[in-house]
Amino acid sequence: HIVSVEEDARKKLARDLHDGPTQDIASIAMRVNTIRMLFDRDPSRVPDELVQVEQMARRTTTKIRHMLFTLRPLILESQGLYAALEQYISKLAELDSVAIHLEALRGVDQAISRRAQSVVFYIIEEAVSNARRHANPSTIWVRLRLEGDVFVAEVEDDGAGFDFQAVRTHYDERGSLGVVTMHERTDLVDGKLVIDTAPGNGTLVRLSVPVRRL
Ligand SMILES: Nc1ncnc2c1ncn2[C@@H]1O[C@H](COP(=O)(O)OP(=O)(O)OP(=O)(O)O)[C@@H](O)[C@H]1O
Ligand SMILES: [Mg+2]
Repeated sequence: HIVSVEEDARKKLARDLHDGPTQDIASIAMRVNTIRMLFDRDPSRVPDELVQVEQMARRTTTKIRHMLFTLRPLILESQGLYAALEQYISKLAELDSVAIHLEALRGVDQAISRRAQSVVFYIIEEAVSNARRHANPSTIWVRLRLEGDVFVAEVEDDGAGFDFQAVRTHYDERGSLGVVTMHERTDLVDGKLVIDTAPGNGTLVRLSVPVRRL
């Protein structure tokens, strides 16, 4: 089962690489080609075009760095979930202007194992990336807390929300993997995942994980 979860994650990464940086670099190559022709035909446009292509290259670098971070957040291993989230959120702040708030007490992550912490991290990461990609929110909240014997992680956005039933019905046709992977990972830690959303109402993703018995 763990193998299939990892396989889905790899599929998703392969597709993201294909849709993102690969296409960006292809269009950078095309633009460079255009610039080469402009040298003869309309040299006055060359400086502007060069600025554009430089910006595209920089954006692509940022994206790839971000994907690499997704792949292997070392800090998760060494310092745990809270520190990894802090770092992740500050990196996102470089990418766009959505405000992301981490509401958690440092040390709350100690209630679950390191393995469970990394599962929680990946689920939060997917929920945050969904909010950024699909919801156009002004704010995203990431919360960690203990409720008795249960560790709760939430991602809430104040964006568009969506019709969860409709998405679920057509899920297989969409080529989407995010929500499926979130549920698969939830099962790995005997957790429970609830997605509370409606068009116009934002989205709340709540993951509950039983705390470890000492
Ligand atoms: N926070 C959100 N706000 C608005 N719509 C959302 C949100 N999260 C998910 N959705 C909707 O649910 C769909 C399914 O999400 P899912 O993460 O499974 O797929 P995806 O993000 O489209 O692709 P993938 O995650 O595989 O890269 C999305 O395409 C989007 O329409
Ligand atoms: Mg997604």
